[in-house]
Amino acid sequence: MSQHDVYDYRLTWPINPDAPADSAEAKAPFVDHGTAPISPERYYSAQWMEAERRLLWPKVWNWAAREEDIPEPGDYVVFTLGRESFIVSRDDDGGLRAFFNVCPHRGNRLVSDDGGSRPGGFTCPFHNWRFALDGTVDHITDRETFRAEALCRKTDLAEVRCESWEGFVFINMDPDAKPLTEHLGPLVEHARPYRLAEMRIMRRVRAVWESNWKIGVDGFNEAYHVHAIHPQILPVFNDYHAQIDLYANGMSRMLTKFAHESPRAGNAALNAALHATMREVGIDADAFSGGPADVRPAVQTAKRARAERLGLDYSGFLDNQLTDDWNYDIFPNIQMGIHPEGVSMLYFRPHPDDPRKFIFDVIVMMHPQANAEILPPAYMGLPQGWDISGREPAEIEQIDWREGGLGELFDQDAGLFAEVQRGIESLSFKGSILSEQEQRIGHFHAELERYLAAR
Ligand code: FES
Ligand SMILES: [Fe+2]
Repeated sequence: MSQHDVYDYRLTWPINPDAPADSAEAKAPFVDHGTAPISPERYYSAQWMEAERRLLWPKVWNWAAREEDIPEPGDYVVFTLGRESFIVSRDDDGGLRAFFNVCPHRGNRLVSDDGGSRPGGFTCPFHNWRFALDGTVDHITDRETFRAEALCRKTDLAEVRCESWEGFVFINMDPDAKPLTEHLGPLVEHARPYRLAEMRIMRRVRAVWESNWKIGVDGFNEAYHVHAIHPQILPVFNDYHAQIDLYANGMSRMLTKFAHESPRAGNAALNAALHATMREVGIDADAFSGGPADVRPAVQTAKRARAERLGLDYSGFLDNQLTDDWNYDIFPNIQMGIHPEGVSMLYFRPHPDDPRKFIFDVIVMMHPQANAEILPPAYMGLPQGWDISGREPAEIEQIDWREGGLGELFDQDAGLFAEVQRGIESLSFKGSILSEQEQRIGHFHAELERYLAAR
């Protein structure tokens, strides 16, 4: 791999060196985070966890629901973040609202299920106080037994900011936070052709993984470990020549080529997996006269032809969006691998009280389809024959990571992260040393440290 010699970390490997500056594939300017190691106590200390509870989670946009989960007034879902719980609902005017799931009377959880429909508002089961869908208190039982001064405190539900992007409903506890779409930055434009608002969650699997949530975020923010942990995908995945873009607000992305063999594999001839990739999109692989590097453009052309035949509009996509992984990191705890056929969304939430665990949701989204001719990339782990009609909302499947079930790639990472957690806690470990293939990790932690500066 002679290309090692010419690596320019300020540039990484642009997916299209000729991309105009206003194109979705344009390389963003380098952001220098230096070379200091990432200090390890953030991954295990109770103080760090507490600092994040006070200074990070109440300040950032947290994804709470999809709009289609709550179509009608009174529909609601409960969203849990660490020790907090929120009700995200539709009010009588069809607006989105979010409240702390806490009764202002004596602090009871207002609702204790995962969601449902309460068009008449919310009644607290402890003493039957009632709240309208806009959060105002409608009824205080035996109001005459409260002294007036007691009730001049706030008796409405505590509301938080609630904004939606492409059907994703986010909440923010900080009244002064910048708007959601401003936080998301270039992703808002880049995501447009995919019509994410019209996609539906086809599968959502949840597991408790045995590491800090940031070990999860870090792990999925680089492809450097792929050759070691997931060598099975190297025949169709160029893990090395990635374009990395660092954006404002801790956001970043990585563009990596599929339908393109890793340079680590070093084969001159077409491998079997590239053959299979071509067959998947209707190319006669046996008659293909090109070499390994010709497969990716051929797959792009074939995908456009297939889309036309199926009546899908691919005109808004760049060629490399048809084959490659466009992986966005939404600060602080969401990653999205975006493809025309579907989205792999990873959601890393802190455990309520154990810094050595996190709640991991692995979500596959697609445009609803009657036939299964267009499938999302295999790495997303959607089982054969899965219902992708979108008719029924996907139930959350709770699984034990030790038993597998997330798909091969994720199952490999689950065991790995538990080992990383143990190693990081050694007295001998002096902090993560980052290559520039891992510059998204440095970018994430620089932003995290800005939030935690006051700790
Ligand atoms: S705690 Fe809710 S009504 Fe008393
Ligand atoms: Fe991995």
